[in-house]
Amino acid sequence: MRSAGISSNAATVLVIGVDARAMGLVREALGAEAALPSGVTPYEDALAMMRKMRPEMVLVGFDTDFEEAIRIGAAIHQESTRTVLVAIAARSDNARLRAAMRAGYREFVVLPDDAELLRQALHEATFREGAGDDGGEVIALWGSKGGVGTTLLGVNLAGELSPVHRVCLVDFDFAMGDAAAFLDLTPTQSIHDLFRNLHRLDERMLAGHVVVHPSKIHVLAQPAELASREEVQPEGVMRVLTAVARAYQYCIVDCGNSLDSAAMTAATVADHILLVATHDVPGIKNTWRRLQLIETMGIEKERVHVILNRFDRKNTALPMSVIEDNLRRKVDIVISEDRLAAKAVNDGRLLRELDRKAPITRDIEAMVALLTDGEVQEEKKSGSVMGWLFRF
Ligand SMILES: Nc1ncnc2c1ncn2[C@@H]1O[C@H](COP(=O)(O)OP(=O)(O)O)[C@@H](O)[C@H]1O
Ligand SMILES: [Mg+2]
Repeated sequence: MRSAGISSNAATVLVIGVDARAMGLVREALGAEAALPSGVTPYEDALAMMRKMRPEMVLVGFDTDFEEAIRIGAAIHQESTRTVLVAIAARSDNARLRAAMRAGYREFVVLPDDAELLRQALHEATFREGAGDDGGEVIALWGSKGGVGTTLLGVNLAGELSPVHRVCLVDFDFAMGDAAAFLDLTPTQSIHDLFRNLHRLDERMLAGHVVVHPSKIHVLAQPAELASREEVQPEGVMRVLTAVARAYQYCIVDCGNSLDSAAMTAATVADHILLVATHDVPGIKNTWRRLQLIETMGIEKERVHVILNRFDRKNTALPMSVIEDNLRRKVDIVISEDRLAAKAVNDGRLLRELDRKAPITRDIEAMVALLTDGEVQEEKKSGSVMGWLFRF
């Protein structure tokens, strides 16, 4: 996941160059609210630790070596302006405070008097947007219009990944929301229950809200009745995605085809955006418009992949060269028109369960290989060899 945003768990804190007394006061002030390290990092290891831990908040002792604290603060600030930098001191003085602010420190905290200020800074670090890159891979699917196969592809992409990875399929199609139905699942808990309880969202709560398919795909589903729909805010969307990305290796997001806040937010943080088009003129036109939108959103081209679904070689009226000319880019993934799709949807089954060798199943395998650099196929292969060895 890219710039994971608002954290759902306790913030990670790095503590640099504070003495034992100050560390005790930090523990007293933050207690269970933060993931505090067991020890203090010396000034000279600060940057290496920072790169390793990617903390949301860094506390730097000002009493041991003031000049070093300023130098490190400036270096950290330059590396990540998102990190909340806090100076920790036993006494206040204006000259040191000004130097700290110039170096990029957010707060100058004198302990124990300013314990409340330190807690506030922690809170800010925990709930601010863009608090670093973490967690599993987020793959968002955007349909260029309704009925292009967004859900079918999302569900079967999840189905290809789930034998070797922890996968969560997130249904962000607030209008249609039929991902669970594609897997013949009846959700008892829905994504809306999560949105209603965002303040309590953590890994345990997430686990209580997913429906699990026998293929090991976990689904964060839309409710069965559309009556219980409600507006979701981008902040809530970020928190749900952050929690899912932390708990799973792959987070497959079905954004449907509306350009609502959930779809836009998911695209902003996704590692891959799959733009689904069908082999017809309106589909290609809409895809071009969405590509324009993605460009104005400042999303890097490398993250965007165009999928041409329901590709029909016999459709000579719209050959690939014309499609690519109109899109002014290459089509990355082609999925064949295949009757197996309708059967899979109607039976609530995965394509690979129905027919491993069907053209559409093979195309989906190729799509997964492209998205994972072939890693999943390799692992599946070695997995089957292990199975054979064990049986032997
Ligand atoms: N490659 C394909 N070949 C044949 N039919 C397809 C293909 N992809 C999707 N479909 C059909 O299109 C219909 C709509 O698919 P769906 O995934 O619900 O679209 P969306 O989520 O974009 O609205 C499904 O009923 C499915 O049978
Ligand atoms: Mg759909």
